[in-house]
Amino acid sequence: MSEHVLISQENRILKLQLNRPEKKNALTADMYSQLAEALELASNNPETRVILITGSGDSFSSGNDLNDFLQNPPQGGSSPVFRFLNAISRCEKPIVAAVNGLAIGIGTTMLLHCDLVYASESALFQLPFVNLALVPEAAASLLLPQRMGYHKAAELILLGSKFSAAKAKDYGIINDLFTQESLLENANQIAQELSQKAPEALRLSKMLLKRANSQHVTETMQTEGQLFVERLKSPEALEVMQAFMQKRQPDFSKFS
Ligand code: COA
Repeated sequence: MSEHVLISQENRILKLQLNRPEKKNALTADMYSQLAEALELASNNPETRVILITGSGDSFSSGNDLNDFLQNPPQGGSSPVFRFLNAISRCEKPIVAAVNGLAIGIGTTMLLHCDLVYASESALFQLPFVNLALVPEAAASLLLPQRMGYHKAAELILLGSKFSAAKAKDYGIINDLFTQESLLENANQIAQELSQKAPEALRLSKMLLKRANSQHVTETMQTEGQLFVERLKSPEALEVMQAFMQKRQPDFSKFS
């Protein structure tokens, strides 16, 4: 197993730290598998009351590793990325995220499945799926319009531009901002506070908060996943991946 996800358990808090800072914590199939396994195990581990997710270095995550998209694309529902999305969306224990920097693609969409999300004031977010000739995943096409309204969601998804932590807070996808230096300490304190509460009351309350939407989330993830896998093989997406490797802008002029 790589050290690209650091997993530690302390004071009833399971900490999952994305740890590939030289690649801005871009997520590989191997990393998704480690995260999925840790989340699945946490559900049945009474020692774990809360999960805390953060990143190493100056990024939270730059999203799916684009080399992996080319060389090791997800094939279907049992692929590591979908296993991770199922695990994080169904996790019964509260998840706190400390977004310490760039959060791109799944770096942002995974936050829609966390319960409390804190970010450094300088964190930047982006949903670049259309720019990559892909479609949203992680039920973002359902959860974003629900949380912020259609027009704001359409702005983030269709334009795919980077947006600030202040805007992410204003649009309702993060709870609060902290300075870079104090982010982890604050997120830790909040995780500690949660960890001291009655675990069954927490579990049931989270279940109730998510209950009305859970079937829609599952169905949307399936529909998005099928389209996503198809799009990855499309000539438009291949042009984007090649352009990224060749450090140039994609050229869509030849597509109708
Ligand atoms: N997949 C693979 N490699 C990635 C990556 C990703 N998603 N994000 C960053 N990297 C790599 C870069 O290729 C570079 O590798 P190198 O040093 O071997 O050349 C390294 O991480 C550092 O990134 P760099 O681009 O030099 O840093 P930057 O600060 O100028 O820009 C980003 C950072 C994240 C804005 C930029 O790398 C980027 O746009 N990455 C792609 C993000 C993306 O589209 N993700 C997919 C979402 S579905």
